[in-house]
Amino acid sequence: MEEKAAKIRIDELREILRENSRRYYVDNAPTMSDFEFDALMHELEGLEAAFPQFDSPDSPTHRVGSDLDSPLGTNAESGARQGFVQRPHRYPMLSLSNTYSIGEIEEFAARADRALDGIPFSYSCELKFDGTAICLTYRDGKLVQALTRGDGVQGDDVTENVRRIAGIPQQLRGDYPADLEIRGEILMPYEAFDALNREREAQEEAPFANPRNAASGSLKLIDPEEVAHRGLMCTLYHIPAESVTFDSHSQALDAAAGWGLPVSDERRLCRNIEEIKAYIDHWDQARKFLPFATDGIVIKINELSCQRMLGYTAKSPRWAVAYKFKAEQACTELLSIDYQVGRTGAVTPVANLAPVQLSGTVVKRATLNNADQMALLDIRVGDWVFVEKGGEIIPKITGIDPEHRSADAERPIFPDRCPDCGTPLVKAEAEAKWFCPNQDGCPMQIKGRLLHFVSRKAMDILAGEMTVEQFYSAGLATTAADLYAISKYQLLSLEGWQDRSAQRFLDSLEASKQVPFERVLYALGIRYVGETTAKTLARHFGDIDSLAAATQEQLLEVGDVGEVIAKSIWEFLHAPAHLEQIARLRAAGLRFEGAGQDVAVSEALAGKTIVISGNFSISRDQMKELIVAHGGKAGASVSAKTAFLLAGSKPGPEKLRKCEKLGIPVIDEAAFRAMLPEGKQPGAPAAAAPEPAVEELTLF
Ligand code: IVH
Repeated sequence: MEEKAAKIRIDELREILRENSRRYYVDNAPTMSDFEFDALMHELEGLEAAFPQFDSPDSPTHRVGSDLDSPLGTNAESGARQGFVQRPHRYPMLSLSNTYSIGEIEEFAARADRALDGIPFSYSCELKFDGTAICLTYRDGKLVQALTRGDGVQGDDVTENVRRIAGIPQQLRGDYPADLEIRGEILMPYEAFDALNREREAQEEAPFANPRNAASGSLKLIDPEEVAHRGLMCTLYHIPAESVTFDSHSQALDAAAGWGLPVSDERRLCRNIEEIKAYIDHWDQARKFLPFATDGIVIKINELSCQRMLGYTAKSPRWAVAYKFKAEQACTELLSIDYQVGRTGAVTPVANLAPVQLSGTVVKRATLNNADQMALLDIRVGDWVFVEKGGEIIPKITGIDPEHRSADAERPIFPDRCPDCGTPLVKAEAEAKWFCPNQDGCPMQIKGRLLHFVSRKAMDILAGEMTVEQFYSAGLATTAADLYAISKYQLLSLEGWQDRSAQRFLDSLEASKQVPFERVLYALGIRYVGETTAKTLARHFGDIDSLAAATQEQLLEVGDVGEVIAKSIWEFLHAPAHLEQIARLRAAGLRFEGAGQDVAVSEALAGKTIVISGNFSISRDQMKELIVAHGGKAGASVSAKTAFLLAGSKPGPEKLRKCEKLGIPVIDEAAFRAMLPEGKQPGAPAAAAPEPAVEELTLF
């Protein structure tokens, strides 16, 4: 590869990896599978090795992915203010180098042999638990501190939350050391994960994609009492060698088990690569019967003296390696292929499958990514295909079973025109996807942009796919600004709309005018500007005019904004049509300024944890924001610490019963609003009981 091309690819990979690392560690909502992430990381490592002039100490290849939220950030799950103090780790909390290849495990063993040059040693083989890392400190046998990994140097202090996790002793027993630091993983067993997602769906909250995200999100809940209800567990697997006097890792963990700490029984000492392979083979199958998620095997040199000799790189120990299992697969028949046009115009082939069970859910649709991927797989309708779930909920097709191919199976033809508006598709050289260039006229793109704008994480307006379709077909809205001009009269002329649903929609529109600038920026749908980048930009520039006035060089000064993102932002904010849109949205009263920090509107609810249940005049997320804006906390479940239950129409009977049992007051929306200072309340005062949410956004 040429030097110039390498530099572009290196920048691009760093951007992709940073963004996805944030989605994984901070938002707990990855959009890329671990396998893809690891493959891109390896590609970057290779390029940096080949072009050392472009290597940089802050490259993701040299840094541990960080779970630290930005200062004053919000908890992605509850919308509450992030309340964790960050504290330094005594010893850096590192990551593990990982591989999907047995060959590389053999190389690891051979390297260790060479480096230890005849010194006898063994391997401790363990499960690689798929949760979120934790570091516990015990002083005089008492649990005094629990830190998340954070950026490896400092972590979030989640001690009070960790005290609520079953199986973590507050007090050690036996002959424990006076000062002990021990590390491990917080996990959410499958059963608790399923129960939590059922509850979230019943409450119209987005389900967690997998137990890892659920564990990590739960560990960072603001209210420790809520953590207690999440069914988390812990397993400990590492005592920093600097802090103990044992000869080996396995002795240290055996001792920890004796002090009452939760240590896995599935550890085995292996003498050679054959025994390691046997351990891997066993757990590749047996892990399917474990009650919690694992994503591989960790192989550690057992003798602490040998570990000390091998030492560390900036990111991981040289004495350990992780062998990762490939994601679970299912095999099923490909029935047909749809071509979906997204809001950016990208055309994505989507497979319709014969329903098949995969990791606990029935899969009927899967993405094929792009035309190149289809060609690579040489896929035909009627083929039997392998489906995998990555980090996200949407599964993907990773291969075909050639044995099952029938002679007359036809190769699908990727459309050369937009399946929606018929415009010839285009492909930029560096892009894997085909695009419909008809941005202003393609109905799918127009509707996709509207859907993005109204979505919960953007403006949180009560409208889903059906409503957007109605508005578009009736000629009421093609752009976001049009939404703010829709009248009640126009709504009532649409099929199925009644006074109450129309009022609810208009109230949510009104409430959206209080949505902070950072979310408005995200709602605009600038390519590559996800929630986190929007937040960073809002904090850096403060208002849309300063952002629009920034040169590409100035944009590049913002943390994590690389050339691709800078160009995209600059182009978006220099297109006359977008500027006109922004002017109209501004005239409608949307917020285009403010650092988006969660400054309380009042302190009326300070110190109160409030649980909400049922439907209100505004969405539940907006109600939680309202609570937080007035200094309160939004709790998920009723406990003795709950100040009161705020009940809308149709509150959950379970929550009501619990309130009765604990003597917790239940108040309605009107009484609640009466507690807040006037003039600082988005949404309408509760009138008649509103109808349930119109519909939810569902892609698959
Ligand atoms: S040992 C110095 N052992 O995997 C490194 N880590 O991808 C000490 N993990 O950050 C870590 N199971 O959160 C170790 N049996 C195990 C593990 C394990 C899961 C996690 C850990 C680590 C990550 C690296």
